[in-house]
Amino acid sequence: MTANRQQEVTKWFNGTYSKRGNWYLRPTKAYYIFLELLGAKEGQKYLDIACGLGRLLEASTEYGLDSYGIDISSVAIEKIKEKFPDFNARVANAEELPFNDKTFDLVTCIGSLERMLNIPLALQEMQRVGKQDCNYCILVRNSEANSWKYIKALLNLKNKKGHQDAKNLEEWTTIFKTAGYKIDGVYPDQYSIIKKLKLRSFGLKKINYKQLVNDNNPITKTEKFIFLLKKDV
Ligand SMILES: C[S@@+](CC[C@H](N)C(=O)[O-])C[C@H]1O[C@@H](n2cnc3c(N)ncnc32)[C@H](O)[C@@H]1O
Repeated sequence: MTANRQQEVTKWFNGTYSKRGNWYLRPTKAYYIFLELLGAKEGQKYLDIACGLGRLLEASTEYGLDSYGIDISSVAIEKIKEKFPDFNARVANAEELPFNDKTFDLVTCIGSLERMLNIPLALQEMQRVGKQDCNYCILVRNSEANSWKYIKALLNLKNKKGHQDAKNLEEWTTIFKTAGYKIDGVYPDQYSIIKKLKLRSFGLKKINYKQLVNDNNPITKTEKFIFLLKKDV
């Protein structure tokens, strides 16, 4: 049953990447924020879980990281390989990561955790592959955002084939703590603000993100939360 459901979800993502390609995701410059918030430093070993078309891997080249990506969609990984043949990207399920214990200094998972069928298992795997002082950055959807509460959920417009889901701040906090993480920070997503401020055409790396997100967007209504996590052991 779960295997069949996973196949359905994977098929939906493969179809989406084949048909909608680049249009489906944010532009590359919208991804620097995650590496900035993590304080990424040259030489660190970095994993992007559910890397999609490799936007974050591309951004990470400017930080001199030793970067790896996995995604369940073979179409997404093929597209990365076409554009960036040298990138370390491969097909894998986040619930069974193909890496040794305590490999990475930095781990991201952007807009993808709620798409996973077994979130506790995915979080356990993330813990396993992170070094003891690993820094994690996870972007997840907020069920209290108006766009979700009054449009997607109420009008039943959730994308079921792609396993779209959302939870509120308290629920996500409990999920992360139960999985053995401590919360280092939680910020509202900046993307809608940046679009509103028409900053998309500028080099986003120079912005003080923490100030920007706190000044402009109440966390309870943000579309997505950016969680910074550490291992709680
Ligand atoms: C909304 S996209 C985000 C992609 C990327 N993180 C980004 O922001 O550009 C969600 C991604 O999660 C991937 N995904 C969903 N379930 C997964 C799983 N169990 N393991 C690995 N990747 C998964 C999909 O294939 C898709 O690429």
